Amino acid sequence: MSGGSDNPWQDGRGNKDHSIANPRGTGTMTPAHRKSGATKKVEGGPFLIGDTMTGGYGKGPDILHDCTIAVEAGQIAVIVGPNGAGKSTAMKAVFGMLDVRSGSVRLDGEDITALSPQDRVVKGMGFVPQTSNIFTSMTVEENLEMGAFIRRDDISGTMEQVYDLFPILKEKRYQPAGELSGGQRQQVAVGRALMTKPKVLMLDEPTAGVSPIVMDELFDRIIEVSRTGLPILMVEQNARQALEIADKGYVLVQGRNAYTGTGKELLADHEVRKSFLGG
Ligand SMILES: Nc1ncnc2c1ncn2[C@@H]1O[C@H](COP(=O)(O)OP(=O)(O)O)[C@@H](O)[C@H]1O
Ligand SMILES: [Mg+2]
Repeated sequence: MSGGSDNPWQDGRGNKDHSIANPRGTGTMTPAHRKSGATKKVEGGPFLIGDTMTGGYGKGPDILHDCTIAVEAGQIAVIVGPNGAGKSTAMKAVFGMLDVRSGSVRLDGEDITALSPQDRVVKGMGFVPQTSNIFTSMTVEENLEMGAFIRRDDISGTMEQVYDLFPILKEKRYQPAGELSGGQRQQVAVGRALMTKPKVLMLDEPTAGVSPIVMDELFDRIIEVSRTGLPILMVEQNARQALEIADKGYVLVQGRNAYTGTGKELLADHEVRKSFLGG
């Protein structure tokens, strides 16, 4: 062959669609995965804490203002507050999906503020986000297998534990997860997170969009998981029911901690009742 390169991508031919080729490299895109930095040992404190976090999305304004959420070993901590208060944002910040401008995240004696979300999973965080928390076209069992992506050991024992916890998932294991009811999908999402054998479980509105009966069932399962010793940090819109099962509660308003106390204290607090629990 004569003249020029025989590589179609290097001469005048080939794909000119910049939305595919992006000749400037990936610099114009938001990287899907943040780079990971170093961790360092820290003494004491709760098992997991997002400590005085300030930050927002990309170059946008701060959504969180010195916001702190935490969970102690063996406990359930619940975050409540009005829509748009920054509850999901605080959870995403703890999971590393947000650049916190100040503050830190510590897990089990380690400062992990600089870690990427996937490295936090390796460190033991299980996170169920509020939306898009399952693969709807995959079967229930495939969803659970995907959840175990970081593991190289035998996952069958953990899968049996998930099926024991949520028997309906075993029955529907070969069905596409998208065909399941709302409550069953949430079970898939929680099950998927459990497949990594996490040290702490973070749930963002696990009972969103389900009936009161299904909500009670999900709360029972969450309590059951917590009794195995797994600390749970969760956001809930059913504030009263959630605070009833909470060792610790946080009321967030406009990205700030408005009230913090035990679940009991918050349920008894006149201001909290009036403003957030309907009297
Ligand atoms: N991906 C995003 N990019 C920019 N702003 C966002 C994003 N997600 C949420 N926000 C904004 O952050 C604020 C808090 O939202 P969110 O954390 O979802 O509240 P909550 O979970 O308490 O309902 C809202 O003003 C919302 O518009
Ligand atoms: Mg939310």
